Amino acid sequence: MKLTSLGLALGALLSLAACGEKPAATPAATPDTMAPAAPAPGAAPGVTEAAPDIGKLKYGSVCAGCHGQQGQGMAAFPKLAGQSADALAAKLRDYKAGKTLGEQTAIMAPTALGLSDSDIDALANYIASLPQ
Ligand code: HEC
Repeated sequence: MKLTSLGLALGALLSLAACGEKPAATPAATPDTMAPAAPAPGAAPGVTEAAPDIGKLKYGSVCAGCHGQQGQGMAAFPKLAGQSADALAAKLRDYKAGKTLGEQTAIMAPTALGLSDSDIDALANYIASLPQ
C-alpha cells in the first residue's frame, strides 16, 4: 500500500522533472552573446590605435601629476604640449641615459629611468597629439 503510493509520488516527481528540463531560450542566447566579437576582421586599424592609448594611460597615471592633464605644465614643471614627438622622445631618452638637461633634471630623471623604449614612443606620440 505504502509502496504503491510512494511509486505514484515518484512517478509524479519524475514527470515534473521532465517538464522542467525544457531549455527553451538557451540556444537563442548563444549567438547574441558572441555578437560583439564580430567586428574584429574589419577592425585591423585597432592595432595602430593601441599605441596612443598606452601613451595616454601612462601619461595620465605617471606624468600628469607634475606636467598637468593636458601637458600644459604646472608651477616648476615644464609645459610639454606643443613639442614634436621626436623632440619629446629625445629628451626622455636623454634623461633615461643619465644626461642633465635642465636645473631640475634630478626630479625628472627617476621617472624616465622606468620607461621602456616603447613607453617613450607611445608617450611622445600621445603628448605631441595634445592641444597646445
Ligand atoms: C615628479 C614630477 C615629474 C614627473 C612625475 C614627470 N616629470 Fe617630466 N619633468 C619634471 C621636471 C621638474 C622637468 C624639468 C627637468 C629639467 O630641469 O631638465 C621635467 C622635464 C620633462 C621633459 C623635458 C621638457 C623640456 O621641454 O625640456 C619631458 C619631455 C618630460 N619631463 C616628460 C615627462 C613624462 C613623459 C613623464 C611621465 C612618464 C614625466 N615627465 C613625469 C617633472 C616630472
